[in-house]
Amino acid sequence: MPNPFTPTFGVTPPLLVGRDDPLIDFRATLGAAPGDPNRAILITGMRGSGKTVLLNAFEDEARARGWAVISETTRPGIAGEIAATVLPELLAEATGHRTTTTVEGVNVSAGGFGAGVTRRRRERYQPAPSLRSQLTELADRCDEHGRGVLLSLDEIHREAAEDLRAIAQAVQHLFREGRQLAFVAAGLPSAIDGVLSDAVLTFLRRAERFHLGAVPLADVALALRQPIEASGRSITDEALAVAAAATQGYPFLIQLVGYHMWAVDPGADTIDARQARAGAERAMRRIGRLVNEPALADLSAVDRQFLLAMAADAGPSRMVDIATRMGVSRSYASQYRLRLIAAEMIVPAGRGFVDFNVPYLREYLRKSAPAR
Ligand SMILES: Nc1ncnc2c1ncn2[C@@H]1O[C@H](COP(=O)(O)OP(=O)(O)OP(=O)(O)O)[C@@H](O)[C@H]1O
Ligand SMILES: [Mg+2]
Repeated sequence: MPNPFTPTFGVTPPLLVGRDDPLIDFRATLGAAPGDPNRAILITGMRGSGKTVLLNAFEDEARARGWAVISETTRPGIAGEIAATVLPELLAEATGHRTTTTVEGVNVSAGGFGAGVTRRRRERYQPAPSLRSQLTELADRCDEHGRGVLLSLDEIHREAAEDLRAIAQAVQHLFREGRQLAFVAAGLPSAIDGVLSDAVLTFLRRAERFHLGAVPLADVALALRQPIEASGRSITDEALAVAAAATQGYPFLIQLVGYHMWAVDPGADTIDARQARAGAERAMRRIGRLVNEPALADLSAVDRQFLLAMAADAGPSRMVDIATRMGVSRSYASQYRLRLIAAEMIVPAGRGFVDFNVPYLREYLRKSAPAR
C-alpha cells in the first residue's frame, strides 16, 4: 500500500480535520444571496497551518456547484494577468465561444450601424476589457445558471498592494451591485497586517476572518488513524497517542509524522508505539529544514536575534533577560516582542514573559545557533 500521507506544502491531505467552521460558512455563502457577509473570507495562519489547502477546499466546493473559479497566488502584476488571460478564458468557456477580438471593437465604432447596435457591440467588445467589466460579465453569465464566480488569492502580501487595490476595487463594485461573486484570500499573519493597514483595502478588514491555529489532538488522531485504516493497516491506541502528541496539533506535522511513522515498517499490519516513536523522531529531524528555516527566513536579523536569546531558556523567557542577552534596552526589545507576536512566532506568557509559538523552534535554534 502506498504511503497515504502528504508532507508537502499546498497538497491536500488525505483527511482535512479541524476546519469545519470556515467550510460550513463558505458552503452557506455559496447558497446564500449576494450581500451575505461571508462572501469575503480572509484566512490567516503561520507557515504550514493549512491556508493553501483550505483555499483549495473552498475552490473544490465552488467547482462542485458549477461556479467559475479564479485561483491565483498573489504577485505583482497579477491583476493585469487576470484581466488579460484568466478572465478571457473563463468568459470563452462560459459563453461557449471566444469573443475577445479587439479589431471588431474598433471597426464597430467607425461603422455605420444603428445607434443601439453600436452601443451594444461596443460594450461587448471593448478594446481593452477591464478587470471589472469582465468579472461583471462572467458573474452575470454564471448567474443565468444559478451559479457564481469565486476569486481566490493565496499568499497576499504588501509587495503586491497595487494589484490588490485593483482587484479589491473590482470586487467591491460587484458586491455593491449584488452580483454573484465570492472572494477568499489567505496570508501569513504579519503579511495580512501589512495589507490591512492599506486605506484602499478597508473591505478586507470587514471580511469574515478565520485564524488557523493548532488542531485539537482528537482531530489530529483522526487525521492519522483514518488514512492508515483506509489504506489497510491499523494503529494501536498507544501509538496514536504518541504520534498525535508529537505533532503538537500543527497541521504540517500531522502529515510529516504520519508519513514517517508509516514508513518505519511498511510491511507490518499494525503500527505500534515503537514505530510511532521512531516515526516522530524522523519527522523531528526534518522539521528544522522544512518548517523552522523558512519561518526564520521571513524575519529580520533582529527578530532572529530575539528568538535566539529566548532559546537559552528551557521554558517561557523573561523580557528583561532577553534584552540583556541581546545587549539592548527593554523598550527596544519590546518593539520586537510586538512584531514577533504579530507574526505569531511567539506568544505572551504572563506578565513580562514570552514563549515560543512554533513547534520545535527552541530545539532548532539551540542546535543551529553555534553554526550561525
Ligand atoms: N486541516 C488539516 N488536516 C490535515 N492536514 C493538513 C491540514 N491543513 C494542512 N494540512 C497539511 O499541512 C501541510 C501544509 O498545508 P498548507 O500548504 O496549506 O499550509 P500553508 O498555511 O499554506 O503554509 P505556507 O504559509 O507555507 O504557504 C500540507 O502537507 C497539508 O496537507
Ligand atoms: Mg500556502
